[in-house]
Amino acid sequence: MIVASVVGARPNFVKLAPVSRELRKRLDEVIIHTGQHYDYEMDRIFFDDMGIPSPNYHLGIGSGSHGLQTGEMLKKVEEVLIQEKPDVVLVFGDTNSTLAGALAAAKLHIKVAHIEAGLRSYDKRMPEEINRVLVDHCSDLLLCPTRTAVENLRKEGIVKNVYLTGDVMVDAQRDCAKIAEIRSHILADLELKDKGYYLATVHRASNTDDPEKLKAIIEALEELGDVVFPCHPRAEKYLRKFGLWEDLSRKVRVIKPVGYLDMILLERSAKKILTDSGGVQKEAYLLNVPCITLRDETEWVETVEDGWNVLTSLDKDEIVRLARDFEPCQERRDVFGRGNASAKTAELIEKLASGSLEGARS
Ligand code: UD1
Ligand code: UDP
Repeated sequence: MIVASVVGARPNFVKLAPVSRELRKRLDEVIIHTGQHYDYEMDRIFFDDMGIPSPNYHLGIGSGSHGLQTGEMLKKVEEVLIQEKPDVVLVFGDTNSTLAGALAAAKLHIKVAHIEAGLRSYDKRMPEEINRVLVDHCSDLLLCPTRTAVENLRKEGIVKNVYLTGDVMVDAQRDCAKIAEIRSHILADLELKDKGYYLATVHRASNTDDPEKLKAIIEALEELGDVVFPCHPRAEKYLRKFGLWEDLSRKVRVIKPVGYLDMILLERSAKKILTDSGGVQKEAYLLNVPCITLRDETEWVETVEDGWNVLTSLDKDEIVRLARDFEPCQERRDVFGRGNASAKTAELIEKLASGSLEGARS
């Protein structure tokens, strides 16, 4: 039996790593890389750091508008699926690569499994929200990281083949934490003291593409000082476009995006994390680091409910105040599971492929 995993962007690779390892104990896996991300530090470094097998197909799509990028992916993924005839297509998260993989498979009547099903921001202006909703509605197996995700699907009438697996990013972090301590020298290279700096990441289109919001974030980081900022290429593009790149002083250390091993250590040693990333919010929670989320809403509501994550509406002074003063006041829980999501996922995918999935369970 063959499962085809469709990936293309940084967060897809992180989720693929632990799942691929488990899948290969049970099934043949074909990895299809759309090429959505392509810079070494957005792409290949994750395969190297996390020991992900090289893709069997690299479609080389690259950047473009949503329609163009997704359309090109759809066309080329379909060609591969017709050739490979997999039993299941596996997609991850909410990127354009996720949507293209799911849509190509569904139209060819190939079963679709979705990792990170059921996440919702309820903001239709967010491209990822469109992707998630559409993918969930054409999936045959919905693998949910949290109870909230299961409940979100129920509200949309999706109850068949919905499983609570926990979050595969817990597995990824566990698998790589020790390796990171041995192989990563990032803290020494940047001369960082434990809990002596803020870590910032910004890439959400609603922040980067809006000059006022991006300016407020940069001004807040400047005022805070002691900031390490691995800069996503999208953020760099818009910082340059809006003339903000030149304003960055040495108080904000802008570095290239880092690999996963470096990122784990940067996150773990940060005193606080400021981010608009979904994955980074979760990782902050898992690593006991308070998080300031630079958005009005989050899909990872448990991190906020538990008091470890706080949302800001992108007012410069509020970002600064929260970064300085916000302190979690209660214990964290195991809301993302205990690190066996990948094994559960592989087991369910094998059942889906062989036609022996129970049917309706949640
Ligand atoms: C995509 C995902 C987003 C995810 C993010 C992770 C969609 C709709 N969005 O956003 O959900 O959180 O990836 O990082 O799929 N670029 C480069 N080099 C690269 C990749 C991108 O320079 O290797 C630049 C290009 O100018 C490109 C821009 O970044 O136009 C945006 O890239 P794109 O993949 O379209 O979306 P992301 O913002 O990365
Ligand atoms: N990440 C990384 N290096 C960076 C920034 C992020 O390794 O410079 C990792 C991060 O640890 C997490 C994943 O990339 O595992 C999150 O991806 P991203 O923030 O790009 O997307 P999102 O999760 O918001 O979709």
